[in-house]
Amino acid sequence: MTTKQSMHIDPYEKNWIRLSIGLLVMFAAAVAVAGFALGIQVPTSEQRVDPKTVAEVGPWANPGLRELSPGKYEAYVLAQTWQFMPREMTVPAGSEITFYITSKDVQHGFKLQDTNLNVQIVPGQVSKLTITIDEPGEYTYICTEYCGLAHAAMFGKLIVE
Ligand code: CUA
Repeated sequence: MTTKQSMHIDPYEKNWIRLSIGLLVMFAAAVAVAGFALGIQVPTSEQRVDPKTVAEVGPWANPGLRELSPGKYEAYVLAQTWQFMPREMTVPAGSEITFYITSKDVQHGFKLQDTNLNVQIVPGQVSKLTITIDEPGEYTYICTEYCGLAHAAMFGKLIVE
């Protein structure tokens, strides 16, 4: 003879299960909103380069801005102890800039002050992030990973005019 019996779950346990499922739904919603509505990007490794030769061949041999079309730029930035190349860039307000940043020596960081652009710079990898800046001003970019003696002196300037 078979008896059909439902599994007994303590009411406390049931509430914890409901809460856990609720949290998962909430987290998934937060990720969806951040990614699709707010446009928050997770920096990805765009491509691999050889840190020994990256300063001599390819776009980082001549770091700086490339204008793709009016208001649309690519910025190739080379990080090294203890400076960014270029040290200064100027774009018109409202420009969309895609940064391609790599390091030729050790690990650095790249944070563009007063924006949400902040990325780790790993030798051998290219970090890519896109930003549009509408507000004119001077935006300092600083190294955010300790990279030796003159780490604090490692910065540059993006001028939006
Ligand atoms: Cu480069 Cu700190």
